[in-house]
Amino acid sequence: MSPNLARTVEKRGQGNGAASVAGYLARLREDGAEAAALARALRVTYSDFFRNPLAFAWLEQVILSAFVEGTERAARGEIRVWSAACAAGQEAWSVAILLDERVEGREPRASYRVFATDVSEPDVDQARRAVYPAAALGNVRGRHLGGAFVRQGDAFSVIPRLRAQVEFSVYDLLGPGTTCPPASIYGDFDLVLCSNVLLYFRPEVQHRVLGKLRRSLAPGGYLIVGETERPIVEGAGGFRAVAPVASVFQKRKG
Ligand SMILES: C[S@@+](CC[C@H](N)C(=O)[O-])C[C@H]1O[C@@H](n2cnc3c(N)ncnc32)[C@H](O)[C@@H]1O
Repeated sequence: MSPNLARTVEKRGQGNGAASVAGYLARLREDGAEAAALARALRVTYSDFFRNPLAFAWLEQVILSAFVEGTERAARGEIRVWSAACAAGQEAWSVAILLDERVEGREPRASYRVFATDVSEPDVDQARRAVYPAAALGNVRGRHLGGAFVRQGDAFSVIPRLRAQVEFSVYDLLGPGTTCPPASIYGDFDLVLCSNVLLYFRPEVQHRVLGKLRRSLAPGGYLIVGETERPIVEGAGGFRAVAPVASVFQKRKG
């Protein structure tokens, strides 16, 4: 048992009046509500704007330029992005800020959509509200703060132009059946970000999720994972690393 799991199980067991960990585990088998509460307590939802600076630098300098300037994707009419474990929206807004900056003022203006999902409903609600305290925006550059947010008292609110391009929904990466969030209708993403979530899954689940993400990508589409998750993707196959150090991958053919 990981230290975090052991600590949380012990704390919830005590809070529920269980005499021992074994007693609490026995109760979990019968009490679905407590099992769901434990699952929520175990979920790590920390996120940040422009977390993973190396990957965002690649995104900004290499990938997004290619999307917008390369005729192939722009000709399709829409750049499609999926932020697959978006927490309270920080990752989705970070990508949208960079895309908006790229397409703004260009003629013809390339359009983009960001589909952002998370299994946690409260986080998705917070992402939709799109209002963040100043302390949460330390990684956001001055020009982005001025261009993508408006001040609302002590907080900052994402501007309507960006809000119109980002759609949040609840989606469980481990759920059966679908390859992509239903909100996106058909997937076919140019870019999927799935950062700092694979590491919490068992190897066979990591492979299953990576297979799903791969199927959701358009040919030649890109995948970004967390820095520490690079070996997981390298070991799974189906992707080639495109950056020497950043955790940025491209879908292989076949
Ligand atoms: C540590 S946060 C990472 C957030 C963001 N991707 C980042 O890199 O900053 C992990 C997120 O994964 C979400 N998550 C965990 N299990 C999930 C699942 N089965 N399907 C979708 N999201 C999941 C959690 O709710 C949480 O918001």
